[in-house]
Amino acid sequence: MTNPEPADDASYEIARERSDELHRTIDDPDALGRADLRMLTGDRPTGELHIGHYLASLRNRVTLQDKGVESFVIIADYQVITDRDAVGAIGDHVRGLVLDYLAAGIDPQRSTIFTHSAVPALNQLMLPFLSLVTDAELRRNPTVKDELADTGNRPLSGLLLTYPVHQAADILFCHGNVVPVGRDQLPHIEQTRVIARRFNRRYAEGRVVFREPEALLSDAPLILGVDGRKMAKSRGNSITLGASADETARLIRGARTDSERHITFEPERRPEVASLLTTAGLFLGADPRALAEQVGDGGASALKRLVTEAVNDGLAQHRLRRAELARDPAYLSTVLREGNSRAHEVAETTLAQVREVMGMAY
Ligand code: TRP
Repeated sequence: MTNPEPADDASYEIARERSDELHRTIDDPDALGRADLRMLTGDRPTGELHIGHYLASLRNRVTLQDKGVESFVIIADYQVITDRDAVGAIGDHVRGLVLDYLAAGIDPQRSTIFTHSAVPALNQLMLPFLSLVTDAELRRNPTVKDELADTGNRPLSGLLLTYPVHQAADILFCHGNVVPVGRDQLPHIEQTRVIARRFNRRYAEGRVVFREPEALLSDAPLILGVDGRKMAKSRGNSITLGASADETARLIRGARTDSERHITFEPERRPEVASLLTTAGLFLGADPRALAEQVGDGGASALKRLVTEAVNDGLAQHRLRRAELARDPAYLSTVLREGNSRAHEVAETTLAQVREVMGMAY
């Protein structure tokens, strides 16, 4: 959300508290309900993943998987056409996502990686779910509004308006209840909770067919792109995970800073410099303030050398594995095919349950 309203701040606080509680449950092997956790999260295949994704989401997904939480990772290919006229190089983007998932340590034996377009039963859930929402609710969704505004004067498509409902199907088809996302996705999680609640009440006489999922918020700060705006897949301002060490150096050398020589960590006043320090800090496990002192009068060029080294060292293993995997396209196809097939089974089971409770199992 670009401009959180006061009301959003209140709901953010509630989501934050729930997320903190969820973090505690995940970290306590004996916690009540620990065994019922199921993670579902994913990405739109609109471009290559970048260091912001690596720091804020990929690493966390691997941690959750390694802590034994059953995991689903969705490649939301239909969401690509919510805000644009064509799918673009979607096949390449999908393969790029799979490469980065595997290189980061998502293990297809333990995590189901799939594209929602390949799972008809998931998509069918959208029909009963659409009956549970109103157009006013969807039109109020702040993320839908922001995404519409970002398209310039494009008219609101039916898919952009209703994609939060489709996203609810993404989450509920596998009874996902832990959804690691950024703050901008909170309206969709809230919408999903409402859909689960209404489904149970209206169609299942109060039985819990769908549990209400919770957002798992990361505490990784937002990283700016090399142009000083938010780093985004589709903006060409990103340091991608697949970039070479030289490209990375070139991009960071060209990154926007400011005209003050002495380096300090002041996120409000010097956002570009602060973002570079934060990036290095996250890769090095160091405090950005301490890094600022270390660079001091070395200025922007010393800062950029530090960041380049931190990023390139931090990603060396990832990039090596990524390049190796890229040489085996047949393996990537197998991973997706098996993931899709597993998601398909899960979705069929859920849809059968939905037909049953709705009295539609003839
Ligand atoms: N909307 C998400 C994004 O833009 C991607 C996504 C699709 C997703 N379906 C999801 C995230 C389900 C979490 C759960 O990043």
